[in-house]
Amino acid sequence: MNIRLFAGALAASVSLSFGMAQAAELEVTHWWTSGGEAAAVAEFAKAAEANGIKWKDGAIAGGDNARQIILSRISGGDPMGATQLNTGRDAEDLVKAGLMTDLTPIAEKEGWKDFIRPSKLLDSCTYDGKIFCVPVNIHSFQWMWVNRHVFEDNGLKVPTTWAEFVTEAPKLKEKGVTPLAVGGEPWQINGMAGVFQIAIGGVDLYKKIQINKDAEAAASPEMTKVFQAIADARGLVDDGFVGRAWNDATNMVITGKAGAQIMGDWAQGEFSVAGQVAGKDYDCLPGLGMQAVLDTGGDAFYFPKPKGDNAEQVEAQLKLASLLVSKETQVAFNLKKGSLPIRGDIDMNAANACMQKGIKILENPDNILPSGEQSFSSDTQKQMEDMWVEYFNTPEMTPEEAQARFVEIIKEAN
Ligand code: GAL
Repeated sequence: MNIRLFAGALAASVSLSFGMAQAAELEVTHWWTSGGEAAAVAEFAKAAEANGIKWKDGAIAGGDNARQIILSRISGGDPMGATQLNTGRDAEDLVKAGLMTDLTPIAEKEGWKDFIRPSKLLDSCTYDGKIFCVPVNIHSFQWMWVNRHVFEDNGLKVPTTWAEFVTEAPKLKEKGVTPLAVGGEPWQINGMAGVFQIAIGGVDLYKKIQINKDAEAAASPEMTKVFQAIADARGLVDDGFVGRAWNDATNMVITGKAGAQIMGDWAQGEFSVAGQVAGKDYDCLPGLGMQAVLDTGGDAFYFPKPKGDNAEQVEAQLKLASLLVSKETQVAFNLKKGSLPIRGDIDMNAANACMQKGIKILENPDNILPSGEQSFSSDTQKQMEDMWVEYFNTPEMTPEEAQARFVEIIKEAN
């Protein structure tokens, strides 16, 4: 029997085992369009195709852009078969409106509660006791990526903390190297501000503001130091940062045009695709090397109810949800994505030095903080983004002026 016939027979037998008469097609939307992201999502597509699900890829570039298109398609009655979104509250209105397929049957059958960790990942998918999304990874913004060669080749100390980086930065500038690579999209500036809040302000301050929405904490002198550190960072970027895509900023670090970038660990996928070796070509500093913590950002897949509640589509949705949390798919996907797996019972020995740092941090639940998407409503997140972007783009805006704006947002935060 030739291999194509054999593969077809295998797929048919597998799909029958899940009760599907033929391969159902699912349109899957996501915003994973960079080199590393595309390599990672291809692992999901491969797993789907190998298990009798035809994966119709619906990549949409740019997280903010994609999120709006995805949410409006679902609310407008033009649902896709499955979609990536951030783990958190972005889809809560659609879940409440009953527009998402209930995954509880497969979650209970497979015991997701027993192996998905930390458990708050699943809490973010749970509404009224039912589960409406499947977390697929843990991404954290709490990382700084440093090109080792840029410092070594210029006779400078490879920084291990933000403070050391700021000390070395002027010498980089003298050598014609941009110290800090930044992309000016709102989510990037907002995410970087969150990293400073933890690294400079400390975990307790972050929790008071993010979880308790404590306006006094937002107005504290400790928070003023955060605004000052961000003012320092403003002075370390190149003029072309406004509107730059995150992976173009990562590429500046990879190619030595810049010394470092503060970005989520999806940046790791770009280093990997470029053949860079963690610990040799680049270093990774969780919490800017000052607070070894992670936030549970990351991605979850939602499965909008198909038109007419098409049973075959729902069957394929439940099957894909099961595949995305399976051990083999979790390893294959996360190694390419640079993210951490949502389950602790798999062999991640192939993970590089940076991922191993992240896995170690994950072992202590006290080191894991909620992400902005999990703490604030979309509306509050947007207000925060606008404030951080204005502050970062306006050198004449003082830390005190920006902090006053921040306090007002936290007072009204929901
Ligand atoms: C985040 C997402 C990551 C990463 C990043 C940049 O929102 O969780 O998977 O891809 O956007 O696109």
